[in-house]
Amino acid sequence: MADHPIDVAQALAREAGTLIRNASGRHRTVERKSAVDLVTEIDRAAEDIIVRGLHAAFPEHHIVAEESSPRRAGGSRPCWYVDPLDGTTNFVHGLPHCAVSMAMANPDGTIAAAVVFDPFRDELFAAVRGRGATLNGHPIGVSGAETLNESLFVTGFPYDRRQHAKFYIAYFETFILRCRDVRRFGSASLDLCYVASGRFDGFWEWRLKPWDTAAGWLIVEEAGGRVTDFDGSPYDPWLPRILATNGGVHTEALAVLAALPSSPD
Ligand code: 2AM
Ligand code: CA
Repeated sequence: MADHPIDVAQALAREAGTLIRNASGRHRTVERKSAVDLVTEIDRAAEDIIVRGLHAAFPEHHIVAEESSPRRAGGSRPCWYVDPLDGTTNFVHGLPHCAVSMAMANPDGTIAAAVVFDPFRDELFAAVRGRGATLNGHPIGVSGAETLNESLFVTGFPYDRRQHAKFYIAYFETFILRCRDVRRFGSASLDLCYVASGRFDGFWEWRLKPWDTAAGWLIVEEAGGRVTDFDGSPYDPWLPRILATNGGVHTEALAVLAALPSSPD
């Protein structure tokens, strides 16, 4: 019998994560996809491990991977969203906060299984639809916060932040005034997993890509949280906006977002 996708994903995420951890601190060639969007040979080597492994285990599945195949594919095959190294800027600067993120979507777009592995803390977050979310095999759940005033939120600034700094900072300013505090950690997949495990109460960000969010999306929902667009409509990983919370503060966060400008132009 073939291995379950979650088992394949966990094994490949650990293998790629070990490569990332062992490469930490060594000299790296950094390329720029844009002035603020970086990639290293470790991103590519980790992606190679995962893509080869997925092809071998599931030759009929489609793969959307950040560095080699970032395009959307239609059709009736299951699809994997792969970010081999989420948090590349942290990695390049020697900050031990990044992750391998992998999610398998059903042909209807729902995420069936998800893994996010932090190789520096040896924390493996996982979820299978309908079976809950886990951290290193133990069930996790979202926080019980009921107001923004008692909430710790996390966010990130997207790759076009230099062009639209005021626009994104208006969001940050509003949340930092309404929440207990706001963090900016630099790995969207871990931000989502930290909402799932109750470390953060909420997360918003602009212009992420499916490989950044697909896995964390399922992990938050299976941990009892809520993930939507900024207007409360259902999330889709190809959308440019994501709000993920513990559920208890979601309505209040949506009201905050509704009062902010919806476009930088
Ligand atoms: P990365 O490290 O894989 O590039 C930081 O807030 C988050 O934004 C990280 O998860 C980072 O992922 C992501 N990010 C950086 N550049 C991006 C881009 N051009 N498109 C989408 N997401 C990006
Ligand atoms: Ca990446």
